[in-house]
Amino acid sequence: MSTPVLDKTRLFRNALGSFATGVTIVTARSAEGADVGVTANSFNSVSLDPPMVLWSIGKNSSSLAAFMEAERFAVHILAAEQEHLSGRFAKSGTDKFAGLEIVRGHGDVPLLQNCAARFQCRVAFRHEAGDHYILVGEVDEFDHDDHAPLAFHSGRYGLFVRNEPPAAAEGAAPPLLAELLVRAEDALLRRVEGAMGESGLSLAEYEVLRSLVDLPLTLEDLEDWAGPAQEIPTVVLVEDLAERGLLDAPEGGAVSLTDAGRDALARGTAEIAAIEGTELGGLTPHEAQLLRRFLSRIAASAED
Ligand SMILES: Cc1cc2nc3c(=O)[nH]c(=O)nc-3n(C[C@H](O)[C@H](O)[C@H](O)COP(=O)(O)O)c2cc1C
Repeated sequence: MSTPVLDKTRLFRNALGSFATGVTIVTARSAEGADVGVTANSFNSVSLDPPMVLWSIGKNSSSLAAFMEAERFAVHILAAEQEHLSGRFAKSGTDKFAGLEIVRGHGDVPLLQNCAARFQCRVAFRHEAGDHYILVGEVDEFDHDDHAPLAFHSGRYGLFVRNEPPAAAEGAAPPLLAELLVRAEDALLRRVEGAMGESGLSLAEYEVLRSLVDLPLTLEDLEDWAGPAQEIPTVVLVEDLAERGLLDAPEGGAVSLTDAGRDALARGTAEIAAIEGTELGGLTPHEAQLLRRFLSRIAASAED
């Protein structure tokens, strides 16, 4: 018994989805001067000399006629932050360019900004292929930026993470997450502590100021807030910060930040952000962003 046609198509789609790709938006300008654009992951490189790329457009796309007539198109490789654009350009019958800041490329083709890469092409060939047309373009201008790319796999968006050989010997139990988190926190605090001298704050002092950012607290509340970096008693830290004009600490009253305290806090935050974004364990900013996401999920689970 043969597999029903529909199921076979779906199975074929699912199998194709195993091929992880980037995501592109291909734009053009129709003969009537209308801008068109389609989300496409069928993009591929073809030739280096001359430089050529291809993608394929479905025959049921409402933008098909424009792409079949246009002499030029531009391919935009989307950055990780541009998932919303992918969704927007995959929707038929809407004004896909509404509110977007575009610039004009060769032939007035609309160009999107802040992409990982862009290729401006002159159409070299169009091949009919089943329910799609393959469009091959000769690239006459391109640019690229160091943005992390948006990825697509099995019908879902993803982020690219560099692969690494397993750290542990094969068969050994992986280290416990809890243990890794403690060691990572220790490494992070050491790094931060070492670099924070420049803002004139120790990490413990920074934590005291940060705990007061929203509202004044009593000394007892502050003691409850004491962070992991704090070995010096809170009362000593508060007295010292008040003497330096960073805190208001009236006898028996609530402790609050002064303007100078807010400034010092902002400087400290900028220093920590710079360290987190660039140096930790050789993480790229993109990897640091992923780590932040995973840790936020673990932290949020404590609030469930
Ligand atoms: C990740 C992703 C990849 C896609 N790849 C293609 C593609 O390679 N070719 C294509 O014709 N449609 C592709 N589509 C669907 C089109 O984006 C969508 O059908 C089209 O933009 C609808 O608008 P239109 O009628 O104006 O063309 C893709 C959609 C998504 C979300």
